[in-house]
Amino acid sequence: MEKILVTGGAGQLGSELILALRLKYGTENVILSDIKESNNDPNFMMLDILNKVRLREIVEDHGITQIYHLAAILSASGEWDPKKTWNVNMNGLISVLNLAKDGLIKKIFFPSTIAIHGQYTPKQNTPQFTDFSPSTVYGISKISGELWCNYYHNRYGVDVRSVRYPGIISWKTKPHGGTTDYAVEIFYDAIEKGSYECFLSAETKLPMMYIDDAIRATLELMENPAENIKIRTSYNLAAVSFTPAEIAKKIQERLPKFSIQYKPDFRQEIANSWSQSIDDSLARTDWGWNHNFDLDDITDTMISNLKIKLQDNV
Ligand code: SER
Repeated sequence: MEKILVTGGAGQLGSELILALRLKYGTENVILSDIKESNNDPNFMMLDILNKVRLREIVEDHGITQIYHLAAILSASGEWDPKKTWNVNMNGLISVLNLAKDGLIKKIFFPSTIAIHGQYTPKQNTPQFTDFSPSTVYGISKISGELWCNYYHNRYGVDVRSVRYPGIISWKTKPHGGTTDYAVEIFYDAIEKGSYECFLSAETKLPMMYIDDAIRATLELMENPAENIKIRTSYNLAAVSFTPAEIAKKIQERLPKFSIQYKPDFRQEIANSWSQSIDDSLARTDWGWNHNFDLDDITDTMISNLKIKLQDNV
C-alpha cells in the first residue's frame, strides 16, 4: 500500500492534486503538509520544508513511500528574497532526494517549469534539450533541481520524475507569486468587477494549461512503468498558448461588458524571458501525454465554476 506525502500541498496545484490522489489511494493514505495552517484538511501536517529533521520524522512515523514535493517559492515573489528562495527551493529538494537515497521512500515527483527558459532559449516550440539560462532565482533553482534529480537517478537509482509545467489555470485555489497568475486573476475580476488591469502587455504570449490536464499529466507520469520514463531531468509539457488580449477576447465573447487595461510591471520582463510555445513530443511518445482543454474549454469551465463560487459577491 502506498503512503503519500504532498509537500506545499495547500497551494494551487497541491490542493487539487491531493483530491485526485485521495480518490485513488484513500484520504488516510495521503498526507498534506504545508507551512501554513490548513485546518479543514482531514490529513494535514504543519511542515517547514527546511526542517529536515521533522520531514524525516513524518516519513518514518507514517511509513511514507512517495513524496510529491511541491513546496517552493514562485517566479515573481522569489525575486523579493533571492537567498530565501534559493534556500527553500534547493535545500527542500535535496532533503527529499536524500530520503530516497537512504531507502526511506520509493518515488518522488518534482515540479519544474517554463521559468527555466531564458534569453537564449528558442521562443517557439522550445525543444526538450536546448539552452536554459533563466533570469529569475526561481528558474535557477528549478533548472538546478532538474540536474540534481538526474544526478540522484543516475548515481543512486532514485526514481524521481518531473514535468516542466506551463502556467496553470484553476478556479478552486488561487496561485500565489507567479508571473502566469494573471490568467487566473482575469477570470475572478471579470466576474467580480467586470474589468481587469493586467500586469503583462496585451501581446505577451505564454504557454498555459488547465489544472485538470496538469493533474492528469502528473498522475500519468507517476504511474507509468519506470522504463518508459527516459528523461530524468524533466519533461517538456504543453497544452495551449495565448496572449492576455486573446484570453480577454474569449471572456468578452461570454461576458460582453468585460473590459481590460494593460499596466505591465516587473513581471513583464520575466514573461519576456520565457518561451511562447513548447515542443512536448517526448512526453507524448514516452508516456502517452495528451492534453484535453483548449482555450475555449478553459474559458467556459472557469466562468461557469467561478460564477457559482463567487455568487455571493456578484
Ligand atoms: N506559474 C509559474 C510562475 O509564474 C511558472 O512556473 O512562476
